[in-house]
Amino acid sequence: MTAALRADPVARLATLAPTISVGILTADLMALGADLARIDGTGVEILHVDVMDGCFTPMLTVGAPVVKALRTPLLKDVHLMIRDPLDKLADFVAAGADIVTVHAESCDHVHRVLQQLGTMQNANDPARGIARGLALNPGTPLEAMEPLLDEVDLVLLLAVNPGWGGQRFIPATMGRLERARRRLEAAGRRILLGVDGGITRENVRQLAGTGVDLVVTGSAVFDGKAPADNARYMLAALRGS
Ligand code: DX5
Ligand code: ZN
Repeated sequence: MTAALRADPVARLATLAPTISVGILTADLMALGADLARIDGTGVEILHVDVMDGCFTPMLTVGAPVVKALRTPLLKDVHLMIRDPLDKLADFVAAGADIVTVHAESCDHVHRVLQQLGTMQNANDPARGIARGLALNPGTPLEAMEPLLDEVDLVLLLAVNPGWGGQRFIPATMGRLERARRRLEAAGRRILLGVDGGITRENVRQLAGTGVDLVVTGSAVFDGKAPADNARYMLAALRGS
């Protein structure tokens, strides 16, 4: 696959940045289809699916069949919180993932996992490519991303310890985001910066203008009231309006 094709997912996401990726972990599954249809008109174009295996995280959530079952024009942002993801990548790619994010802490050979992901074709549209994400837990030094920067399109900093929606944002994340942004700017090619966990109506504005490209937010959108209005609000607040 040519570099141009692989670069495409980053170019596409960069045109949306700064933007929101809506997490469905706390969504009302019985209303999800209708809610996603409403969100599709708000300017938010990315859907975040938290895949937890009950090993890497205490919680067990969904697998590739659920990712596939989500029939939506929104881009599928698949956050793999699973141990040893190498052999499972193909299932999530076949399920239509546009962004696949793996954790630096999830296996011994994360460089190989990212390389493998780089050889895969987007099942929705080969020209779209697959954006390769690297996630770091709050306790993982930023230096862990250094040897992997040639193999990633997105660095996702967790602002909570993975496992649940609705947790409190860890304040030290702001400093990590600032340092990570500076490091990525020096990378010599466009690598997106994202943050995941604990983003609320109250704190989303602090991310405006910080150079964060992708903000994952779940329970602040799916609060059981008006997901589409919440999504619109979060996006506008992130963009400083
Ligand atoms: C946590 C997940 C997050 C979480 C976000 O392990 O990776 O994506 O679902 O949910 P909120 O926005 O409610 O913290
Ligand atoms: Zn997540």
